[in-house]
Amino acid sequence: MKKLIDMIAEELMQAFEANGYEGKYGMVTLSNRPDLCQYQCNGALAAAKSYKKAPIMIADEVIASVKDSKSFEKIEAILPGFINLTLNTGYIAKYLNEMSREEQYGCEKSAAPKTIVIDYGGPNVAKPLHVGHLRSAVIGESIKRISRFLGHNVIGDVHLGDWGLQMGLIIMELKKRHPDLVYFDENYTGEYPKEAPFTISELEEIYPAANEYSKAHPEFKEEAKNATYMLQNGTRGYAALWNHILNVSVTDLKKNYDNLNVSFDLWKKESDAQTYIPDMIAYLKENNYTRISEGALVVDVKEETDTKEIPPCMILKSDGATLYNTTDLATMVERMKLFHPDAITSIVDKRQELYFETVFRCAKKTKLVGEKVKLTFLGFGTMNGKDGKPFKTRDGGVMRLENLIQGINDEVYKKIMENREMPEEEAKSISRKVGLAALKYGDLSNQASKDYIFDIDRFISFEGNTGPYILYTIVRIKSILNKYREISGGDLNSKGTIVSSTLPGEISLMLEVSKFNDVVEHSYEENAPHKICQYIYDIANAFNSFYHENKIIAQEDKVKQRSWISLITLIQGILETCIYLLGFDAPDRM
Ligand code: ARG
Repeated sequence: MKKLIDMIAEELMQAFEANGYEGKYGMVTLSNRPDLCQYQCNGALAAAKSYKKAPIMIADEVIASVKDSKSFEKIEAILPGFINLTLNTGYIAKYLNEMSREEQYGCEKSAAPKTIVIDYGGPNVAKPLHVGHLRSAVIGESIKRISRFLGHNVIGDVHLGDWGLQMGLIIMELKKRHPDLVYFDENYTGEYPKEAPFTISELEEIYPAANEYSKAHPEFKEEAKNATYMLQNGTRGYAALWNHILNVSVTDLKKNYDNLNVSFDLWKKESDAQTYIPDMIAYLKENNYTRISEGALVVDVKEETDTKEIPPCMILKSDGATLYNTTDLATMVERMKLFHPDAITSIVDKRQELYFETVFRCAKKTKLVGEKVKLTFLGFGTMNGKDGKPFKTRDGGVMRLENLIQGINDEVYKKIMENREMPEEEAKSISRKVGLAALKYGDLSNQASKDYIFDIDRFISFEGNTGPYILYTIVRIKSILNKYREISGGDLNSKGTIVSSTLPGEISLMLEVSKFNDVVEHSYEENAPHKICQYIYDIANAFNSFYHENKIIAQEDKVKQRSWISLITLIQGILETCIYLLGFDAPDRM
């Protein structure tokens, strides 16, 4: 379905052309004076320069050409040459009726679907998820859903951090604690046990302990380095142990991501990329992309237009070891080989921006990634506490994601249970839904690159620009529709009965709703879920004022009532689709 704004622009473009001007001047934008008009066209001002004519004259000519159009209620030229547009409400109503009948409310799937790999996890093996991983997961899940909604083939990859010294540290710590485990017996040739010799809580305690210990004991660190080397070179017992570590970790991570309504298509690990490294390095050398700098192998990625210092991309350290860069490059090689993507989007803390810039440039310059492939770094800001510093637990530690979520759900639960009774099970389930909406909306309503303050009281409030407010609005609509169904016995399925209106509140509500396809497309193009948040917040506000001004159930004019019911049915569908795109859903009551 065409966007409403484009339909209006087409009419104006034709009008410009009919008067001998270039059509491009007919571009239309949302009005920045909604009190005066709904849309505006500033093209006459621009055309005036090229055609050496007074802008107001051009505007008048254009308006004369569209005066018979049924689309406009009012169209006027304002000095020095603005064209202010107000739509005919019948025209908006017709558009909304069509939206109700269309698949996806008129938001069409792309005619040229792209294959997009999105990297939005980055958790590390044997370490619990913490708030640092929250934003990547929440933003990535939403961008994945939005892209799929528009018909793209999206592959979500968790990109698990499982490479490096941490592996050896955990293995050596286990050996220190349980030297008798069969995994450490070099002469053992039998099968290893299927059960892991530790639980997730042990595992999570082992890594920090090993890390601490290695700082004070250099010989332990050496052993860990050696164990890492042995593991990477196929030592059987270590490999079996490593598999246990992975499995226990991944099971726990999946549970946590599930609670966030976040999922991945791929559970690829940094270690999976390692097999691509030798050939990749040989290729880079053969094609003379590399040089040696102080013993290290690097690729220069500076460009003449740079305004800041861009360091070379290091491929091998002077001791021949690979680094984070090498793994990320090899991961791109792997993704190109396995999926032939049109685009790869990495959703990572914005503090890694320069690093990604270097790696992306290197991938492009060396043609490891084809020219046409779009590499995007979507860097997100920090979630801060009320003190403006990165969010911490009360005693200053790193907050586990699990505990953060539990804390929010508990607060919501208290709130829901204030002055009312509800079965325990239901209250718990509602709290989880509302809690998740509070957390995700609190995050997504900000532009991703900005820092924001985690303010639990504000996030869980049922009023203001919050997730619970949106859910509350949906629940309110559901309850009106239920009541209507009860008293009228009417079926709500007949679509397309929205009629024109003279109520300003209803007209602005209709106008907000009509922007759906435009908003979703922009949020896709700009990787900007916050645009969907803004859209549904505007609708929720417009709906709630409309609701307070009008008695829907008691309305006696049946045509009007039926129109309102159709309108709010459409709104319910759109709000629910939007929160799905953001990654949460609404309860039946709250
Ligand atoms: N595992 C890393 C961390 O916890 C994040 C990985 C980000 N993604 C990437 N492709 N480098 O800091």
